[in-house]
Amino acid sequence: MNTWVIIPAAGSGERMKVDVPKVFLKIGDWPVIVHALDAFEKCSLIDGIILVGPEEHLKALEGIVREAGFKKIRRVVAGGATRTQSVRHGLKALDKDVDVVLVHDGARPLVTPAIIEESIKACSVSGAVVVAVPVKPTLKVVDPRTRVVSETLDRTLVWEVQTPQVFKREIIERAYGGDENATDDAALVERLGIPVSVCMGDHRNIKITTPEDLVIAEALLRSRDTYH
Ligand code: CTP
Ligand code: MG
Repeated sequence: MNTWVIIPAAGSGERMKVDVPKVFLKIGDWPVIVHALDAFEKCSLIDGIILVGPEEHLKALEGIVREAGFKKIRRVVAGGATRTQSVRHGLKALDKDVDVVLVHDGARPLVTPAIIEESIKACSVSGAVVVAVPVKPTLKVVDPRTRVVSETLDRTLVWEVQTPQVFKREIIERAYGGDENATDDAALVERLGIPVSVCMGDHRNIKITTPEDLVIAEALLRSRDTYH
C-alpha cells in the first residue's frame, strides 16, 4: 500500500484575525503547520506528504518545512480559493501509484501518529473514514431569523468530525471529480452515496480557528505527556 496525505494549509485564516497565515503561528517552539507535519512524518504507515500552501507565501512555507528537516514531503503546491479547491490541487500532485489518500487540515497541530494509524487501518476495512468524536454539548436547531428552537438533537447520534479523513484513492478522486464545494472531504463522498464510517478521534485534536484556540492548543501541548 502506498499511502499519502494531502495537507491543505492554504487558507487565509479570516476568523483568526491576524495578518499572517494562521498555520505560521507558533505553538510552543514550532509553527502550527510543523506540529501537524511532524505527526505524519512520525507515522510509519505514511509514505508521502503533499503540502498545499498559500500561493503568496509558498516560499516562506518551503523555508519553514526545510528548516524542520522533514523527509516525507514530496511536493509543496499552491492552494485555491476554497479548501475544496486546495485539496483538488493536492490530488493532482499525487504520484500515479498512490492507493490510499488522507486529507488533514494544516490547522490541526495536535493530531498524533496513533490517531493517523487507526484511521488508515479503519480505511482498509471500509474505504472511506473520518476521524470524529461524539459531541459533548446538547445541540439545538434554531431558526436563524426568529431564534426559536425547532429541535433538540439526540446527542448520542451526533459526532463532530475532525481530520484526518481517509479514502481509497478511486473514491476520493471520484468525489472531487466535479466542481462541487464542501467544508470537508467526506461530504463529497456522501453525495456519491458511498458509505462513510467514523473512527474515534480525540477531543484534543482541535482545529485552530479563532484566537482562543491558540491558548487551548498551547495548554494541550504542554500536557502532551499524558496525551499519548
Ligand atoms: N484551507 C486551504 N485553502 C483554502 C481554505 C482553507 O487549504 N482556500 C485549509 C486551511 O489552511 C486549514 C483547513 O483548510 O488548514 C481548514 O480550513 P479553515 O480552518 O476554515 O481555515 P481558513 O479557511 O484559513 O480559516 P477561515 O475560514 O477563518 O478563513
Ligand atoms: Mg475556512
